[in-house]
Amino acid sequence: TQHRRSSEVLAMRGSYHGGSFATMGITGQSTWRPTSRSSLDVTYAMPPHHSYSSLYGRYEKDDPEFAKACADDLRNLIRTATTGHVAALIAEPVQGVGGFIELPPEYIRGVKEVLDETGILYISDEVQTAFGRTGSHFWGIGESGIEPDMITMAKGLGNGLSIGAVMGRAELIDSMSGKLHLATFGGNHVSTAGALANLNFILDNDLQRNADEVGGYLKDRLTKMAKDSPIVGEVRGRGLMLALEMVGPDGEPNPPAAVRFLQACKERGVLVGKGGIGANAVRISPPLTITREAAEQAANAFEEALAVAGEAAKVG
Ligand SMILES: Cc1ncc(COP(=O)(O)O)c(C=O)c1O
Repeated sequence: TQHRRSSEVLAMRGSYHGGSFATMGITGQSTWRPTSRSSLDVTYAMPPHHSYSSLYGRYEKDDPEFAKACADDLRNLIRTATTGHVAALIAEPVQGVGGFIELPPEYIRGVKEVLDETGILYISDEVQTAFGRTGSHFWGIGESGIEPDMITMAKGLGNGLSIGAVMGRAELIDSMSGKLHLATFGGNHVSTAGALANLNFILDNDLQRNADEVGGYLKDRLTKMAKDSPIVGEVRGRGLMLALEMVGPDGEPNPPAAVRFLQACKERGVLVGKGGIGANAVRISPPLTITREAAEQAANAFEEALAVAGEAAKVG
């Protein structure tokens, strides 16, 4: 906001950007936003996605025209719902808490074109998607070929140590130089040394390729088992960021099925997460170091857990 002299921000429906006052203010899920108060003025765009939530534009896979139409809608949104002088757009390339919803690359490219018309900055929130997790690229946004103005990162940087970072074009970062900025735990030596060792480990062991290969295998297995399961509406995601959308007979969100699946996995020694707007997305994001053998064991557990959750759904 310092660089652009504006506090207006564009964000995505279904997004999650954190639990601080400012980041809650740009999060597009009311469950994670206990107050409507915000230090930023936010307008939400509607990204396209073939998901089970009406929050998203109904997008049939491989429909670049529709993705482009949603990006074009952003132009209208900027014209009609903002002052026209917007600081930045922030978006996760794959929405994490939102249930591993991928923004189509055509959409990201279209959005960037619209933003460039008035110099609005593109911030890629890569807290979940960075460091090769999505398999095909080091940064989640890489798939679109777009270079954002800023990137935020955290989780995979410290591998458990508390550290976050922001990277941006020099003129943007330099615009802060006249302001004092310091934090009690900022620049912690242990965290920074640990993060450096972690980054070197990721690169030296080509964990991005591992995410691509093992993630690809897991997605294949999940897709196959989902074909025979009436409670899985969709398998989505890429690399080691995969989700199952658990649904009822009419395709409606089925949170109890997600809970049963989670529980059955846990009983078999595999921990998976849950999320999504309807609390019905099972989120599978193992460590980047996961071996093919461990993934096979996990997939076997998923198969059994799907059968357990499927049987429970029949009983009702
Ligand atoms: C995409 C994304 N951005 C930012 C954050 C940071 O949130 P927190 O306030 O927990 O650090 C998270 C945490 O889950 C996230 O998933």
